Amino acid sequence: MCGIVGAIAQRNIVPILVEGLKRLEYRGYDSAGVAVLAGDEIRRVRRVGRVAEMESAAAEDGLQGQLGIGHTRWATHGGVTEYNAHPHISFGKIAVVHNGIIENHEQQRQRLKDLGYAFESQTDTEVIAHLVHHYYQSGSSLFDAVKQATRELTGAYAIGVIALDRPDELVCARMGCPLLVGLGEGENFIASDVSAILSATRRVIFLEEGDIGHLTRDGVKLIDKNDQPIERPVHLSDVSLASLELGPYSHFMQKEIHEQPKALSDTIEAVQDYGFNPELFGDAAAGILPQLEGVKILACGTSYYAGMTAKYWIESIAGLPCDVEIASEYRYRDAFANPKHLIVTISQSGETLDTMEALKYAKELGHQYALSICNVRESAIPRASDLVFYTRAGAEIGVASTKAFTTQLVGLFALAVTLGKTRGRVSAEAEAQYLDELRHLPGSVQHALNLEPQIKAWSERFAAKDDALFLGRGLHYPIALEGALKLKEISYIHAEAYPAGELKHGPLALVDENMPVVVIAPNDALLEKVKSNMQEVRARGGELFVFADADSHFSESDGVHVIRTPRHVGVLSPIVHTIPVQMLAYHVALSRGTDVDKPRNLAKSVTVE
Ligand code: F6R
Repeated sequence: MCGIVGAIAQRNIVPILVEGLKRLEYRGYDSAGVAVLAGDEIRRVRRVGRVAEMESAAAEDGLQGQLGIGHTRWATHGGVTEYNAHPHISFGKIAVVHNGIIENHEQQRQRLKDLGYAFESQTDTEVIAHLVHHYYQSGSSLFDAVKQATRELTGAYAIGVIALDRPDELVCARMGCPLLVGLGEGENFIASDVSAILSATRRVIFLEEGDIGHLTRDGVKLIDKNDQPIERPVHLSDVSLASLELGPYSHFMQKEIHEQPKALSDTIEAVQDYGFNPELFGDAAAGILPQLEGVKILACGTSYYAGMTAKYWIESIAGLPCDVEIASEYRYRDAFANPKHLIVTISQSGETLDTMEALKYAKELGHQYALSICNVRESAIPRASDLVFYTRAGAEIGVASTKAFTTQLVGLFALAVTLGKTRGRVSAEAEAQYLDELRHLPGSVQHALNLEPQIKAWSERFAAKDDALFLGRGLHYPIALEGALKLKEISYIHAEAYPAGELKHGPLALVDENMPVVVIAPNDALLEKVKSNMQEVRARGGELFVFADADSHFSESDGVHVIRTPRHVGVLSPIVHTIPVQMLAYHVALSRGTDVDKPRNLAKSVTVE
């Protein structure tokens, strides 16, 4: 969370910083700020609220400069105030933007206070500004001051630093949070992700843990965590500017929901290229997959629900034990580790701190191999894994995950079939059928998208409610959980999900005429059981909103509303049934007038605990 950007150029860089921050706003949107070197001062503009507010203030101020840094914040230390907004400045001389958390900031703060520094914010970042200043004013170069300061910090950071009397230098450092350097002609940049600088350059260097960078207009020098000069490869980003624009849509979430047929077929293409063969997950997979005795999945939020769905596939298709854990819980418990259980992390961003730390912990406990299912190339989690499957969802900007989730499910399904094949449990005939089902998936998802007008009509009835209950069984229980999460995070309606059979063990007490109950009820082996559970709800006056398929044979009746997808798609049905619950959440949020793409208190990349 938090996005940083910086630029050193021969032109006014304020528009570049502002545009970059707008693109990084998904990472945090409590407050924003920029600082530029303007003549004999570092000029700073900060505002609580969105980047647009800061942009107006910067324009009013006439802010201009050829060297500067910018930040969009998701508050961790200290409330959402202008004082706590970045950049933080020490004695008017050193300005710093920071993404991450400094764990030893209290000790450093005390030490710096003893040295005579006064603090104007409650942030951990101000410690960095003063610490750099402390070394800088003792005679170190700006680069060395950043090196000395960062080597004394514990925790996670990506920082950009400028100094008043260094108009030709921008220094950056990375540990635990993403940071890249963008290479231009006579100008260079830093950013949390490539989207921020795409209009200026596509040539980027991804910094590694512990790297420190020194940027001038004409060059970039890096040292690694051992203070050795290092050259890192230059990548040409293939992210398109168009993929970062809204186009005809009102929200990124809406755009991303509608992009799912394409995102799925792009991801399925990878599966088609390799077939259900280990190479799909990397060169080393052929040596690793046959040795496995089980799978442990670690993830957070929506990605965790993808993992829950995968458990059904892995156990039934591959015949391997699979357990799924919330990464933030796993990392703090004395877990049993079978070294032959493959760790599978699932992460859209590839930088979720809890998932990353859970992966490191699993390795410490003795798990030999890790596979990452991830949407962002070169991000931290796949880089720390032995095997990887990159989903091809394209940039996901809406804070609520949509196309990343359904493409993760494709990757996980492919893993289940590949493991099954490796273990001799998937015949050539079954393999061909699974591939065929995958090929038809984008079409079925498109059909589900066509249900939007009906779902929109339902959404009016939810908009006035305070609570909602989601029910599903088997493979569709995780989809009920995902539906409830989507609804609560973007519409702020309290929503919970239960396996439908669990209703009578407690939650049925909540059901009355004010509680809408959403049921995911495709024509699978559990359909008759779900129908009985629905009777239990109806008998208590609960109003049912049922997502079924044509084969489920439901009819509308008093208090029972039904929307049907055209046909039952078998084992991939959870993917198709995700679409209606996403659209329901989207339209309910629209009716309630919430900020769909940037729901309160949330941010897209959760790089803090
Ligand atoms: C919900 C949502 C979050 C993320 C979670 C993990 O819509 O987006 O629950 O799924 O924060 O993020 P990643 O997948 O980036 O690790």
